[in-house]
Amino acid sequence: MTDPMSTLADRLGGIAYGGDYNPEQWPEDVWHEDVRLMREAGVNLVTVGVFSWSRIEPRPGAYDWALLDTVIDLLHTAGVAVDLATPTAAPPPWFSKAYPRSLPLTASGTRLSHGSRQAFCPSSPDYARAADAVVGKLARRYADHPAVVMWHVHNEWGNHNALCYCDTSAAAFRTWLRDRYTTPARVNDVWGTDFWGQRYGDWEEIDPPRDTTAFRNPGQELDYRRFSSDALLARHRAESALLREASPGIPITTNLLGTLEKKVDGHAFARQSDIVSVDHYLVAADPGNHIDLALNADLARGMADGRPWLLMEHSTSAVNWQPVNVPKEPGEMRRNSLTHLARGADGILFFQWRQSRAGAEKWHSAMLPHGGTGTRTWGEVSSLGAELGAMSEVRGTRVQADVALLFDWHAWWALELEARPSQHLRYLDTVRDWYGALWDLGVTCDLVAPDTDLSRYRAVLAPSLYLVSDTDADALHSYVRGGGHAVLGPFSGAVDTHDRVRTGGYPGAFRDLLGLVVDEYLPLRQGESALLSDSSRALLWSERVASRGCTARLRFADGPDGGPARGGPAVTRHSYGGGVGWYAAAALPAQSLRDLLDAVCREAGAEPAAAVPPGIEAVRRRAGDRSYLFLVNHTDREVRIPVAGHTALDGSALPEYVSLPAGDVVVLRERAVPQQASLHREGAR
Ligand code: GLA
Repeated sequence: MTDPMSTLADRLGGIAYGGDYNPEQWPEDVWHEDVRLMREAGVNLVTVGVFSWSRIEPRPGAYDWALLDTVIDLLHTAGVAVDLATPTAAPPPWFSKAYPRSLPLTASGTRLSHGSRQAFCPSSPDYARAADAVVGKLARRYADHPAVVMWHVHNEWGNHNALCYCDTSAAAFRTWLRDRYTTPARVNDVWGTDFWGQRYGDWEEIDPPRDTTAFRNPGQELDYRRFSSDALLARHRAESALLREASPGIPITTNLLGTLEKKVDGHAFARQSDIVSVDHYLVAADPGNHIDLALNADLARGMADGRPWLLMEHSTSAVNWQPVNVPKEPGEMRRNSLTHLARGADGILFFQWRQSRAGAEKWHSAMLPHGGTGTRTWGEVSSLGAELGAMSEVRGTRVQADVALLFDWHAWWALELEARPSQHLRYLDTVRDWYGALWDLGVTCDLVAPDTDLSRYRAVLAPSLYLVSDTDADALHSYVRGGGHAVLGPFSGAVDTHDRVRTGGYPGAFRDLLGLVVDEYLPLRQGESALLSDSSRALLWSERVASRGCTARLRFADGPDGGPARGGPAVTRHSYGGGVGWYAAAALPAQSLRDLLDAVCREAGAEPAAAVPPGIEAVRRRAGDRSYLFLVNHTDREVRIPVAGHTALDGSALPEYVSLPAGDVVVLRERAVPQQASLHREGAR
């Protein structure tokens, strides 16, 4: 089957470029200027209608299409394609007044008001009915409009309203539990309700995990997160079904939030989308935010199963929702955009086209700033449009990663439940540390769900995969037995899918694979550290490991400096079947983590995309005999990179090297296709 993203790119005639277009905020004469400037900036795709429900249906059941009709026609005449959004992320005020019980209820029982967006309970039947009605009308009205090339379902599912604790949610939760567990007895079993005498005798006794006296039941809490994500996924599916029915050929997407969103299971939503789209925003205060960008791009690609994906939103400059909203440096927006492209995006879009003059996001940057076309941002936006226009040949190529990093929302939810060994060991921090070490090594990885087919990877990393199903744990064992290299991080494999401890010694799911047993988790106090045999110091976490066949590659130092696990193994290696299982029994400091992952990659034969100096990001995209090397200079000086035999995309031949100024990006067309990476079974480098 043809990939929907490639069909879309063919329709657009190149890489998608554009952003959210909210003409509702402006008078009609501005729309004409908008489309003229869109053409000038090389925009070929805009998302329309995201928050337009109160315009489309100003009174219940009374529809007014004048604005959308005019805008979509105008865009079409100008040759700008439309990603038409369902407006369901912003129910109109009349809806909330008519159905006050559809407003979300917090865990402490506060009913939220209308006045922002996503002010609805995910399980509200009134919301579902109203949303389906407007989506059905929208779908039928525009299904055959030649401008509409994609449907954009909702906006960032669950960003503001994923967890609702109202009585309607309670009833829906009971239905969800009944479907999954059949009897209250089974619920008692998986939630361990004999602890603190919480046994349920009847479905009606079960409520959402609302605020209570002390710790909530962790199984209930975990299932509530699953239920809540599923409730929104059901809405996503319902809207998608209506769109598909009206226009079978038009691809459907929804903008996911990657690691910015803990509350919904991104993999589940990605699997229900024809094209995977993500939004990404830099945290201005984070000096390593370009690494977070790469991580999220690799997660988007993982969610897309390796296929090209869309960057649906990022910012041209400052956002407005961080404590201090620092504008991007000159060139930073281009660097961000091309890094997403390097990592497999076939489209670069922004929130939003024209900067608002009123409303909650008027201080958020846009493609066309308050200052108009004389601004630095506009200059950068239009030159990026031209540059992407000239890069069309890159689209459709794919990034091939030798390494998989398992990323799982269920493990994230479970690891961060209340009452655990350390509040300071956080899922995303560990994932970021591990990803950062790999980024430093220049090795590209896909962030994938634990149930992904791992056979195409040379090495698999599982940083703190605290919760794992028996099936996924078995698959990891088979992968290693078959010759793979797996690296597990601290506090992995501790519990089953219901957050019940796997007894008999930690890490219960992986003792055999790793050839060890841990009898106690030994978290470190804040400010405490444990000296390691490589002279670095572990913070936060240590474990007492007893070997059952593994060998220690790094140890906690003997003596008091080594912390509570003093003298014991901190990193282990274990031959298992034809492969190797590695374990990090500590929250390793950056250098030790880099050394560990370097050793694993070398042994597994996972190579960096190119040999480049530190601070240079190198990623390759390829398909058939087309191959492109992206080089991004994150340093503050010009760097000379030896890349003989390449040409720049503009066709200019390079001498023996490329000189890449500070902050710059170059895309090279590779003359000869470099040796294709072989599977892990074929041996080490
Ligand atoms: C999200 C939303 C947009 C906008 C931006 C601001 O990505 O989807 O509507 O609010 O954040 O950064």
